[in-house]
Amino acid sequence: MSDNVFDLMDQWGPEKVVCVSDQRTGMRGVLVIDNSARGMAKGGTRMSPTVSVTEVARLARAMTWKWAAVDLFHGGAKAGIRFDPASTEKEAVLRAFARALRNEVPAEYVFGLDMGLTENDAAVLADELGDLGAAVGLPRALGGLPYDELGVTGFGVAEAAHAAAETIGLDVVGARVAIQGFGAVGAATAQRLRELGAQVVGVSTAGGALIATDALDVDRLVELRTAHGDDCVQAYGGVRPADELLETDAEILVPAAREDVVGADLARRTTVKLIVEGANLPTTTDAQQVLHERGIALVPDFIANAGGIVAAAYSMDARRSPFPVDPADVFTTISSKMRANAVTVLTESKRRALTPHEAALELAAERVRTAMALRRQLPAQRVSVTA
Ligand SMILES: NC(=O)c1ccc[n+]([C@@H]2O[C@H](COP(=O)([O-])OP(=O)(O)OC[C@H]3O[C@@H](n4cnc5c(N)ncnc54)[C@H](O)[C@@H]3O)[C@@H](O)[C@H]2O)c1
Repeated sequence: MSDNVFDLMDQWGPEKVVCVSDQRTGMRGVLVIDNSARGMAKGGTRMSPTVSVTEVARLARAMTWKWAAVDLFHGGAKAGIRFDPASTEKEAVLRAFARALRNEVPAEYVFGLDMGLTENDAAVLADELGDLGAAVGLPRALGGLPYDELGVTGFGVAEAAHAAAETIGLDVVGARVAIQGFGAVGAATAQRLRELGAQVVGVSTAGGALIATDALDVDRLVELRTAHGDDCVQAYGGVRPADELLETDAEILVPAAREDVVGADLARRTTVKLIVEGANLPTTTDAQQVLHERGIALVPDFIANAGGIVAAAYSMDARRSPFPVDPADVFTTISSKMRANAVTVLTESKRRALTPHEAALELAAERVRTAMALRRQLPAQRVSVTA
């Protein structure tokens, strides 16, 4: 993809790209507001030593589709700061970034969490602008909602899996599930799927895989994760090489670790009936096509793992209220949204002979196009004038 900002612009956006820098702290950053036709643009704020305008623009576009696919009324945006998040100068750089964007934040953009940023950083960004409404993802002590601690994303992944299984005639009760990655997403998915009656027979971390014929003890694994992190699998006992997880004899596979782990070869030989993408981009485009041809159902990442954005939407709404968000409300909405969206995408994919990713993107694009048309943001129709 080109690094020329103008080459990034197409019929959808970006509407605005703001590049900022500060010589004193070495801060270099960018805010990309991709498309706000369906509502104020929203997306996290990333800090990494290599972040580029192109990367932030692509992430902002992904947010445009994600909000529209989930049918929540925000547009897509993302911000990026090119800096090492481990540096002791992080706070000064965050403050410089917030100051540089004071014209845009919070009127057009609200800071949020992404790679390299913590809840405490969100508090610093908001503090610099003297407005707690300038960021979401704040610590609980400032009224924030601890997404990862509550496991909102994994909960939604499990709800999507349940609804998708029903759609393809697979009973989740007793179904064998393999989950790659036992982090914030994977562990919460395992807990919820177990509650829904599934048997979690495989889990893995970067440190190795556990594969069992009977259900693994998810509660024990969660406790071990708290104590040992990724080494929870070693602490549980019977660990095998991490990659073997993908070959687990199971009906449902949830890749919840990282991108590109399901390629075309695996798609050709897997015996699972349903894949639910907990991680972002875990299945390659080739694999998606193969799975579709083989009739293996798949719930795309931006449909299944959108629990976090539902929580973010609640947090956006609660910024000007003294009442903290009630997690019970968030879980209820995530459940209904993730279920409905998973069913819609699988049904549309079948009806229109598209892969689920294609079906979901078309649905999202249609919603954005309609909003743009209603707001008269599309090119005017040529009007023929006769004398
Ligand atoms: N946390 C969220 O709310 C959220 C929301 C949407 C998408 N995601 C995506 O979900 C994925 C996981 O995020 P997370 O927050 O759970 O991260 P995390 O860091 O909490 O956990 C990642 C887990 O994946 C494991 N892992 C890494 N490489 C592995 C490998 N090769 N084999 C097996 N396991 C491996 C790690 O050991 C860890 O257990 C990422 O793609 C992230 O972008 C997360």
